[in-house]
Amino acid sequence: MKDKILITGANGQLGSVLTKSLQKKYGIENVLATDIKFNAAFEGNFEFLDATDFNSIEYVIKEHDITEIYHMAAILSANGEKHPLRTWDINNKTFLNILEAARLNRVKKIFYPSSIAVYGTNAPKDLTPQDYFLKPTTVYGMSKASGEHWANYYFIRYGLDVRSLRYPGVIGHQTSPGGGTTDYAVDAYHYAVKNENFTCFLNETSSLPMIYMEDAIRATIELMEAPIEQIKTRTSYNIASMSFSPKELGQAISQIFPKFKMIYKPDFRQNIADSWPKSIDDNEARTDWNWKPKFNLETMTADMIKHLKEKYKTENA
Ligand code: SER
Repeated sequence: MKDKILITGANGQLGSVLTKSLQKKYGIENVLATDIKFNAAFEGNFEFLDATDFNSIEYVIKEHDITEIYHMAAILSANGEKHPLRTWDINNKTFLNILEAARLNRVKKIFYPSSIAVYGTNAPKDLTPQDYFLKPTTVYGMSKASGEHWANYYFIRYGLDVRSLRYPGVIGHQTSPGGGTTDYAVDAYHYAVKNENFTCFLNETSSLPMIYMEDAIRATIELMEAPIEQIKTRTSYNIASMSFSPKELGQAISQIFPKFKMIYKPDFRQNIADSWPKSIDDNEARTDWNWKPKFNLETMTADMIKHLKEKYKTENA
């Protein structure tokens, strides 16, 4: 029997790109995209699903004989600070529902996205070790850190095959991000391609770990396809790719758009960025399942700009 994949948060920044990759890889008929909002441009199987409701999740799993779940629904860091209690519900209640419904209905594998936000100001800023003590200071970081422990618990207690990555800031041309701290980098590219200057909400030296969408999606699928005996970290794997500051990003963009300028007006998101690592150590992911990024700041910038130029040309045609 073929695997049947359920994705929550399928309209999100990562969810929508992941859905397309999974459709391509496993067949459009074997992927069920779900979200609380519908996107008119979506192609494939879709159902509305509010993952805070356990019964709805269980119904969808049974109805579609789901065998794998990618639980992408979440509120990100900056929006999380505006609605702390709601964020806890959306990020944690939904994940517990997914874990429990999966366990009770013999779902084989689950993917859970975590984040560099699980680390707090106590952690070393450079090459933060995989197993460093987690003391996050944002509700988003707290929610992801506790989710990782629940993932580990369900694996130890019930043998549920839950796999997870700590994503750096994800940068892609396909979708607009919503409510994250690393999202300034995506916006900067859009402004540059529209020949506009960009006002950045972080200061020029705030270096953060980042990853290109293509690498992030590939890491996700490689982790999920790795033989079970290679998965030794059951909380969440650090994956690193590149790290840069807004100033370094601005310089990379200026290589292609020499007139592009970044203006700096840090706001509350500066505190969030200050609490996160500048770079993380992903040695476990490299060793256990051969993780290796392909893109760096320069190659990502060239690819982003190429795609965004096409996008704006098509939209303005
Ligand atoms: N991109 C996320 C955020 O900024 C970090 O995981 O919230």
